Amino acid sequence: TDCFTYDPGFTSTASCDSNLTFIDGGEGVLLHRGYPIDQLAENSSFMEVAYLLLNGELPKKKEFDDFEYTISRHTMLHQQLATFYSGFRRDAHPMAVMCGVVGALSAFYHDSLDINDAEHRKISSHRLIAKMPTIAAMAYKYSIGQPFLYPDNNLSYTGNFLRMTFGVPAEEYVVDPVIERAMDRIFILHADHEQNASTSTVRLAGSSGANPFACVAAGIACLWGPAHGGANEAALNMLREIGTVDRIPEYIARAKDKNDPFRLMGFGHRVYKNYDPRAKVMQKTADEVLKKLGVTDPIFDVARELEQIAINDPYFVEKKLYPNVDFYSGIILSAIGFPTEMFTALFALARTVGWVAQWNEMISDPKQKIGRPRQLYTGPATRDYVGFDQR
Ligand code: CMC
Repeated sequence: TDCFTYDPGFTSTASCDSNLTFIDGGEGVLLHRGYPIDQLAENSSFMEVAYLLLNGELPKKKEFDDFEYTISRHTMLHQQLATFYSGFRRDAHPMAVMCGVVGALSAFYHDSLDINDAEHRKISSHRLIAKMPTIAAMAYKYSIGQPFLYPDNNLSYTGNFLRMTFGVPAEEYVVDPVIERAMDRIFILHADHEQNASTSTVRLAGSSGANPFACVAAGIACLWGPAHGGANEAALNMLREIGTVDRIPEYIARAKDKNDPFRLMGFGHRVYKNYDPRAKVMQKTADEVLKKLGVTDPIFDVARELEQIAINDPYFVEKKLYPNVDFYSGIILSAIGFPTEMFTALFALARTVGWVAQWNEMISDPKQKIGRPRQLYTGPATRDYVGFDQR
């Protein structure tokens, strides 16, 4: 007879072994290949973290230069994809567009379809990482009716993304180093987070041997939800709705009310029962960016005050609910000039690194088989079919 454990939400099931990312939720620790996230956020770059996650070690200078060069060679999209965009409504959510466009990439690269060939997997991984900024920026340009900007490979990965997003053909776009650094740091903080819902989705889709572009499109779909990546958009909308510090208690009371479905967005985490270490870096970055840009956003005061009230409230203390990565990221992205609808698309851009690194790890692991959860059947026992006249 079948024997298995009932574990809805996979709260206690390990689906794989992995040597990419370590989380100690109790202590609030996050390591990529052993390196603490705060050290990477402070000293590294998103491209370097991408190399680290894909290859296991920090690159030597020459390895880094080669990697950056390779990624820059793959930033362009097939021209036919530009027409693909015009099939979407202008007011389509960028995540809907990203799902469609990334899925559509699976129809373009017939030269690297053998997922059992490490070289083929590498090319697909590089293509995905390189094209995500172009795809996300085009989704934004399409939504506001501005022309698409082609990538400029003389710029950094992140600088190029900022230019494609905020530049216009009529003017030279000068990348602000403060914004570039902040954006790059946000990408680092979102690069990977072990077996979260979207990464598990990519692995599950990939476990059947499916096309990697289609698998990443599945990951984007999963990330979109407000309980996952969509929380950055939801958190900023919530802060705007609260608006002023004096209204915070009302929202805290709602979050604690069992009969109200409202939750504090950007708070709580399945794994962290302590401070999300990414939230700490994010708060510091928000502080720096707002200061440097001379932006005074009252929402930041609301966020800081909300955090203080919540972390001292017995409900949140007892349930170990702390700010997560998405609590402060929206404030920075908003100061940079992104509309809230773009927030989760930026998360997807960065998480693509984790998705492809985890997908590669899974395919190379001989122990992995097709993902196929079991169930506890609760439907009717066997019964005979009856015609309309007997129902
Ligand atoms: N506000 C108020 N109460 C909460 C919150 C919150 N944000 N999060 C959890 N709780 C309560 C929840 O009601 C439950 O109470 P009880 O035990 O009395 O039923 C308890 O805390 C445990 O919550 P859960 O939903 O069983 O925990 P989970 O591990 O299934 O959910 C979560 C984790 C992140 C989905 C949840 O905390 C949440 O919905 N947070 C808000 C959305 C959010 O910020 N998501 C971003 C996650 S981090 C970025 C990412 O990786 O995507």
